[in-house]
Amino acid sequence: MNKFRIERAGLSDLGVLHKLEVECFKKNAYSKTSLGLLLTDWRAASFKAIMNERIVGFIIGRVERIRGKRAGRIYTLNVEPKCRRRGIGEALMKRLEEEFSKRGCEEIFLEVAVNNVPAITLYKKLGYEVVEKLRNYYGLGKDAYRAKKIVKSSELESESIIKGS
Ligand SMILES: CC(C)(COP(=O)(O)OP(=O)(O)OC[C@H]1O[C@@H](n2cnc3c(N)ncnc32)[C@H](O)[C@@H]1OP(=O)(O)O)[C@@H](O)C(=O)NCCC(=O)NCCS
Repeated sequence: MNKFRIERAGLSDLGVLHKLEVECFKKNAYSKTSLGLLLTDWRAASFKAIMNERIVGFIIGRVERIRGKRAGRIYTLNVEPKCRRRGIGEALMKRLEEEFSKRGCEEIFLEVAVNNVPAITLYKKLGYEVVEKLRNYYGLGKDAYRAKKIVKSSELESESIIKGS
């Protein structure tokens, strides 16, 4: 089995990442401009998976304030079709979760199409729980689930120990 590694992604990867985004999401893909904006946003974090010196997957998330709490929001996750089911998607998710935790996020949110079985199974495996159904989120008749995970941060825990809470 081929090995892969996870590294930070940046604007110099935009062309490859956008191609992959279109391959994975077709008409619902983020535009190149939107991806470029995310890649340069200081609140965002982007990681790529590299196998045989080629980018085969990526993830982008951003730290936001959601319902009064600092939270991570996952914007996009993509793995090249022929490289799926080798643990790359899960590794990208875990790397971004680690980053959100380091940046003090208490929760992580994401949206996923109700018929996207691979992604829903992955998110359930990682402990995400559906909190809402969003009607027509991806267009007419294309509903989504919003899912959430509470961050178990050692940093947050030690902070509350110090505060005595
Ligand atoms: C969803 C996606 C990122 C998963 O990436 P991946 O690298 O294939 O996933 P992994 O190999 O890390 O799988 C991890 C777990 O996810 C689940 N999973 C992944 N693909 C699955 C599938 N086709 N069917 C059922 N479960 C699946 C399994 O629980 C798996 O764990 P296991 O291998 O121990 O059974 C990939 O299918 C993809 O890019 N899809 C198109 C884009 C997309 O839908 N992104 C998410 C949008 S919200």
